Amino acid sequence: MSFPIPTLKKLKGCVIVPGDKSIAHRAIIISSLSKGKCVIRHFPFNEDCLNTIDIFKSLGVKIKINKKKDEVTVFGNGIRSLKKPKDCLYCNSSGTTIRLLAGILSAQEFDSTLTASKALSKRPMSRITKPLRKMAACIEGISKGKEEYPPLKIKGRPLVGINYKLPVASAQVKSAILFAGLYAVGRTILEEEVICRDHTERMLKSFGVDIRRKNKRIILFETNQMSAVKSLLIPGDISSASFFIVGSCILPGSSIKIRNIGINPTRGGILKVLKRMNADIRIVNKKDLVEPVADIEVRYSMLKATIVSCKEIPLLIDEVPILMVAACFARGTTVIKGVNELRVKETDRLKSMVDNLTKMGADIKIFRKQKKQDVVIKGVKCLKPARLKSFQDHRTAMSLIIASLGLNKPAKIDNLSCIDKSFPEFINILNKLKC
Ligand code: S3P
Repeated sequence: MSFPIPTLKKLKGCVIVPGDKSIAHRAIIISSLSKGKCVIRHFPFNEDCLNTIDIFKSLGVKIKINKKKDEVTVFGNGIRSLKKPKDCLYCNSSGTTIRLLAGILSAQEFDSTLTASKALSKRPMSRITKPLRKMAACIEGISKGKEEYPPLKIKGRPLVGINYKLPVASAQVKSAILFAGLYAVGRTILEEEVICRDHTERMLKSFGVDIRRKNKRIILFETNQMSAVKSLLIPGDISSASFFIVGSCILPGSSIKIRNIGINPTRGGILKVLKRMNADIRIVNKKDLVEPVADIEVRYSMLKATIVSCKEIPLLIDEVPILMVAACFARGTTVIKGVNELRVKETDRLKSMVDNLTKMGADIKIFRKQKKQDVVIKGVKCLKPARLKSFQDHRTAMSLIIASLGLNKPAKIDNLSCIDKSFPEFINILNKLKC
């Protein structure tokens, strides 16, 4: 079934977006391993985060949900309190859940199996199984060629710390190793050639874990107990906010404010790049908490092209699809370098975005240079309505909706239910901003 995307002239108003998905996963995980009651506020009730909650319930943690108050209360029983689950642990389509859990479960005194949806079963897991095995983990996926895929079968056993250079700039890989490292004898040292989001490090530190950064190295010590944290406030999700930010940048006359957004520099690369593209973005009311938070004001302005370097990609990895949309509306030719990792997201996001934007009349091409892939986008005067495909990928679907807003005739897109994975409130909030 295809849904027509409403056309609208501009975005106006002030909104709040749900809490950050990435941080919320970590809040459930870390508070479940700490001892005591922790109230997580501004929790995002999307499919992925609810999945992580279900898994920790299956591991014996008491968790109470209060949707009306946007709160989740976790009654953690300590780092060694997880119980053997009765069944396989179903991660649905959540890559963060399966990869982070693999690190924790590898160190437990019981065996477990992490299962996945059809879509997640196609995503690579050797990036975590390989380093975990170096830590003495007994973890096995389904091998196909050189790669391993879910389900992951884990025989829990004592682990040892490692010294490991991350071969891919991935916060999921980094976090899987750090969570395993909490239980591993000695210390775990990770070397990060290219920095990626550091939510795990920040939150572990706030729960009293001995974790330090020395230049490119992260050093974590075996942990017997974490301090109790009574309350955690999840900042608004910058990835969700980005759709409205770009929408305001490309629709003349727009002016919006989004409150309490996480602006962690290892995560907010989209803001820096859009500003370079001449976006009228103001960061106000900045608060330096465990995660820095601010209000973001955006007004329409004519964008100009930019070059996004490989090093910037991990700082805006989930925003590349919406950045491609912004580039279509910018004057000149934008190059987004080293976007290979987009091929292994919920879907192949390079293909999903290039196919759809091309149908809409965009001038967009992929260039392969040895192992690296770059996207080159020439700005056009306007896009045209087309029949679009979400490829069942939430970020592709939301990016295409934003790309279609200003058209003179509505575009159509199939299957929008995938949006619930990260941002079920998206259409409602968009409606609040529409003029
Ligand atoms: C995430 C890290 C990123 C990101 C994903 C969430 C996380 O994945 O794309 O949506 O919460 O750690 P990679 O670590 O695979 O880059």
